[in-house]
Amino acid sequence: MNEKKFSILKKIFFYIESYGCQMNISDTEIVISILLKNGFFFTENLKIANIILLNSCSIRNKVEITIKNRLQRLKYLKKEKPTLFGILGCLSNSMKKKFSNSDLIDFTIGPDFYKKIPSIIRLSMEGKKTFHNTFLDKKETYSNIDPFRKKNKITSFLSITRGCDNMCTFCIVPFTRGREKSRDPYSIIKECENLYQKGFKEVTLLGQNVDSYLWFGSDGFKKTIYKKIYTENKKIIDFSNLLDLLAVEIPFMRIRFSTSNPHDMSPKVIETISKHSNICKHIHLPVQSGSNKILKLMNRKYTREKYLFLIKKIRSIIPECSISHDIMTGFCNEDEKDHQQTISLMNEVKYNYGYMFSYSPRPGTYSYKKLKDNVPEFIKKKRLKEIIDLQKNHSIFQMKKYIGKIQEVLIEGESKKNNQYWYGRNTQNIVIVFPKKTYKIGETVFIKIIDCTSATLIGKEQEK
Ligand code: 5AD
Ligand code: SF4
Repeated sequence: MNEKKFSILKKIFFYIESYGCQMNISDTEIVISILLKNGFFFTENLKIANIILLNSCSIRNKVEITIKNRLQRLKYLKKEKPTLFGILGCLSNSMKKKFSNSDLIDFTIGPDFYKKIPSIIRLSMEGKKTFHNTFLDKKETYSNIDPFRKKNKITSFLSITRGCDNMCTFCIVPFTRGREKSRDPYSIIKECENLYQKGFKEVTLLGQNVDSYLWFGSDGFKKTIYKKIYTENKKIIDFSNLLDLLAVEIPFMRIRFSTSNPHDMSPKVIETISKHSNICKHIHLPVQSGSNKILKLMNRKYTREKYLFLIKKIRSIIPECSISHDIMTGFCNEDEKDHQQTISLMNEVKYNYGYMFSYSPRPGTYSYKKLKDNVPEFIKKKRLKEIIDLQKNHSIFQMKKYIGKIQEVLIEGESKKNNQYWYGRNTQNIVIVFPKKTYKIGETVFIKIIDCTSATLIGKEQEK
């Protein structure tokens, strides 16, 4: 029956939505590229799409709920025309179970098997449901796929590692994305060169933990086997080598990276960032908590003291560097003293900005299985509000330092709030808006900062 419905269609259109992190956005570009190469047509119009793909995220329960609600709102589309629903990406076990029992979902695919999407869609068009998400692949890095990128964009994401070996006790990523794999550096350089040729001016290198990027002459994660051989042959390429190579090979491309892990960030990386003007002076360095007791329970592998030492080191080598964070409130056994330790760490660092969450137990993780989620929800939320308010004060404190200064801004587009303003960012990843007079998207300009909010610098063109 399904087969008939789809065989009468001349063109099969697919539509895709991304949830969660930048990595998922980057994966969506890989999926689009694979489907286009296999004869499917991309659309941004839900109404004409025959294949509706949601690229999911399981990092917090809230994201899962958002995806489930979205599906409920979209299900009417199945009644209007031949439509398949597919869920991609990071699926928790509970989501996997729910989706494979659902009439609405036709297929699911995990993050290492996007190359199978065309064949899985074809099976679904014949009425065969496929739930291909339980496996992870030790080698797949998609290094031979040229991701689809929207035209007229100036900035782009590029994944350099996939998965994570860190096993923070609260985190679902090592289960949904598997062990860490580093991508071939030569394919990364080639992709960056291509991006530059196509008019992109900035690339953000992505990985759950970019500092542990390590390549031994082969894609994949067989680190322990290759490590010895390649260290001896000096063929090993680590994250600082990769940054160095990219900065030299593509000298006019702005290079960013995310996320850094305090445990893995080496002095060599900090030196490399300081050495190259085209490597942006911003480090996203999640701390999660300021309490050693909690860091240990989280298996974060650094202490408050080591983290603060690293911040000092960054600021002594790159004084102009901006630093952002992720912090989580209400993790298992967090008491008021621990929370105050987080507050005091924030006061010491005075981050430029940050992302803050309250702990959401994820089935399958160590903390879900072995630790008690014993901080009441209202306390988690109260602590969250406290750190959000504090961060706002720190952001304003940091933003005010820019007032009166000249900033180099890469213009990315029109401001969303006011189309009479340009929108761009400086090397510190701080958003800058300024009234349009001259210039165009993609230009790098010097702007005088005259005002700020906690999240945006407001500038004006310099008199010529
Ligand atoms: N609950 C709340 N926040 C989480 N994060 C990761 N797992 C969880 C969880 N179970 C946050 C961390 C991480 C960011 C990407 O998401 O702060 O750095
Ligand atoms: Fe999750 Fe920790 Fe890996 Fe980040 S470093 S993805 S928090 S396990």
